[in-house]
Order: sequence, then C-alpha cells, then structure tokens
Amino acid sequence: MMTKLQGLKSYAYLDHYICVLHLEFPIALALLNIFAVMGSVSAVLPTGRQDFMDYFTVGWANDHVTLLDNGTCVQLKLDNQSGSGFVTTKSYLYGYVSMDIRLARGDSSGSITSFYLSSVYEPHEELDFEFLGSSLGQPIILQTNVFANGSGGREQRFNLWFDPTLNFHSYSIIWNRQQIIFYVDYMPIRVYKNKVGVPYPNKGPMLLYATLYDGDSWATDGGQTKMNWSSGPFVASYTNFFVDACQWCNESSSLLVPSLCSLLQSTLWWDGVNYQTLNASDQVLLHNIRSKHLIYDYCADTNRYPIIPQDCLP
Ligand SMILES: *[C@@H]1O[C@H](CO)[C@@H](O)[C@H](O)[C@H]1NC(C)=O
Ligand SMILES: *[C@@H]1O[C@H](CO)[C@@H](O)[C@H](O)[C@H]1NC(C)=O
Ligand SMILES: *[C@@H]1O[C@H](CO)[C@@H](O)[C@H](O)[C@H]1NC(C)=O
Ligand SMILES: *[C@@H]1O[C@H](CO)[C@@H](O)[C@H](O)[C@H]1NC(C)=O
Ligand SMILES: *[C@@H]1O[C@H](CO)[C@@H](O)[C@H](O)[C@H]1NC(C)=O
Ligand SMILES: *[C@@H]1O[C@H](CO)[C@@H](O)[C@H](O)[C@H]1NC(C)=O
Repeated sequence: MMTKLQGLKSYAYLDHYICVLHLEFPIALALLNIFAVMGSVSAVLPTGRQDFMDYFTVGWANDHVTLLDNGTCVQLKLDNQSGSGFVTTKSYLYGYVSMDIRLARGDSSGSITSFYLSSVYEPHEELDFEFLGSSLGQPIILQTNVFANGSGGREQRFNLWFDPTLNFHSYSIIWNRQQIIFYVDYMPIRVYKNKVGVPYPNKGPMLLYATLYDGDSWATDGGQTKMNWSSGPFVASYTNFFVDACQWCNESSSLLVPSLCSLLQSTLWWDGVNYQTLNASDQVLLHNIRSKHLIYDYCADTNRYPIIPQDCLP
C-alpha cells in the first residue's frame, strides 16, 4: 500500500543548497544541483528524518510546547489558557512536506489539530490538513482545504479508516506546478489540479505550520459542540518531520531564488513526471479512498455553490 514517496528521502537537504549556496554562487550551484540529482545523490546527502530544530521554531506558546526524544518529536498542548504551535524558519515555493501526527485522546470536541502550508505574502494561499475534534465515541474528521489567489471555501472532509489518536500516521503534501496531492499514510486522498481558469496556489512562498487550538466556533457539529476542558489538557504529538522543498530565501534575495528554483525545477523529484499526474494504480487508490471515506465535498454542495466551481470540473 505504500507508495514511492517513502523511497525518495535521499534528496533531503537539497533546499539548503539551493538557498545557502546560491547567495554567492548561483550559477555554479545550479549546475552542481543538476549534476547531483542526475548522479548518486543518495550516497552523499543525508537520509532519514529531520530534527525539529533544523527546520522549525515554536511559533505560539513556548510553555505549551515540549521537545522529546532529542528533538525528533514535539508535543503541542491545548488547555483553557492557550493553544500552541510551531512553524518553519524558512519558506518554500513548491516541494514536499510530511509529518507523522498522533492526535489528542479523550473528548476533543471543539479542538483543531492542524498541519498546513500558508503564504507569506498576499494574496493569501493555503494548503490545509485540519483534524476536527470529536465527542467520545464520535470519529475525528479530517478536513482538507485549498486557498488560492485570496479565496478558500474548497473544503473536503474525510472519515479516517483508523483511530488517529492511537498511533502516529503520516500526512503529506506534494505541491508542484501541475497539481497538489494530499496523502494519508502515503496514499493519495485528494488532488487539486492547475487548470486554465482555475486559481492555483503559486503566487509566492509558504511557511509550514502545525497548531493545536480551540476552534469550537466551527470545528464540531458546525460549532454547536464546545470544548470540554475537563477532558484536557489536550496533547498532540508530531514526529518524522520532513521538508524537501524549494526554499525561498527572503526579500533581499527573492529575485534570484525563484529563478533558480525555476531553473532547477525539472530536476527536482516532486516536479518529475511521476508527480505531474497520478499513475493508474494511484488513481484507483484515490478513487477507492474517496468513495469510501469522503463525507463532505464543496464540489457537491449545490446549496453553497449553485454553479459548480471550475476547479471541480474534470
Ligand atoms: C504509481 O505511483 C506510485 C507513487 O507515486 C508508485 O509507488 C507506484 O509503484 C506506481 N505504480 C505504477 C504501476 O507505476
Ligand atoms: C541528539 O542530537 C544531537 C544533535 O543532532 C546528536 O549529536 C546526538 O547524537 C543525539 N543524541 C542521541 C542520544 O540520539
Ligand atoms: C482552567 O483549568 C484549570 C484546571 O482544570 C482550572 O483550575 C481553572 O479554573 C480553569 N480556568 C478557567 C479560566 O476556566
Ligand atoms: C487573482 O485575484 C485578483 C483579484 O481578485 C484578480 O484580479 C486576478 O485576475 C486573479 N488572478 C488569477 C490568476 O486568478
Ligand atoms: C467531558 O469529558 C469528561 C472526561 O473525558 C467526560 O467524562 C464527560 O462526559 C465529558 N462531558 C461531556 C458533556 O461530554
Ligand atoms: C535576508 O538575507 C540577508 C542575507 O542573507 C540577511 O542579511 C537578512 O537579514 C535577511 N532578512 C530577513 C528579513 O531575514
């Protein structure tokens, strides 16, 4: 059931090279990277999972964030004082992000556990995994959403085929010029395609965030079921951080970086032909998962969208 994604970790840290080295030797670096990708990168670049401190920083409520296992696992806490969150120190335009998450147990109604990419600049763009807490005995719902060129409203919701509070499961996003693929345990659950006439998130770099917060104005039963604080504190655990993406440096170098990323794009694995469209077996997997587990689709919500949005058309 696992896809090729798991075999691709050898290209880790490519983003470091793109950003850091390019500041001084842009052309040399481009050549180096093209050469490296074609050659035996896996022998040179580190493989395996990344340390929290190398990529992330606590973005919200230091005293509610705990680093465990030598910085390879992070716990976010939500109580009646605060939620919490972390965020990458760098931003990215296209790439692959992945994380293993174990959600808080107990009566988590009203809470939202998230893992998402969100744009640094206007117009606002976003790629979301949001886990909507549930009362005891009710399933936790996974909501995905896409904001492009300033507008969202593209929710799709899934019932998971496992209890996400018992064990860690992998949640991943591939974002390239052709499409965005959301994966659960390396299986595709949603694809958003870049098509003529459809807004597509590509206007600028995004930061990667993870948060746990009180979202009881909308999260559970449309906001009717509130937080049950006596079931708290709520703790979600994150591990196996993996960011392999085209790094955007900052304003002072942003003119160079996108062009360098463009130059490199055809050599980056997430932009390769294997990820420009899903192959036949992944399409079957996607179809099967969606036919069994998709419980809300904005594309089918004719009350909300009397005219089917263009991004929903085949
Ligand atoms: C389809 O793609 C997935 C990953 O993208 C890969 O694991 C699988 O082997 C491919 N299947 C075929 C038949 O090529
Ligand atoms: C903890 O992490 C540091 C830095 O990454 C590493 O040097 C050290 O060997 C690690 N310790 C253990 C016990 O894994
Ligand atoms: C928050 O929770 C603590 C522990 O459950 C409780 O003692 C305290 O009164 C609560 N504070 C508020 C403002 O609800
Ligand atoms: C993005 O939104 C702006 C403002 O609504 C609009 O003028 C522009 O045409 C949109 N661009 C794309 C590519 O959809
Ligand atoms: C709140 O959580 C506690 C502890 O998990 C549980 O015993 C209680 O039934 C919950 N209250 C409601 C209203 O569901
Ligand atoms: C942008 O990068 C330059 C050069 O590395 C650095 O001096 C500057 O502080 C950075 N600016 C920001 C906002 O990070």
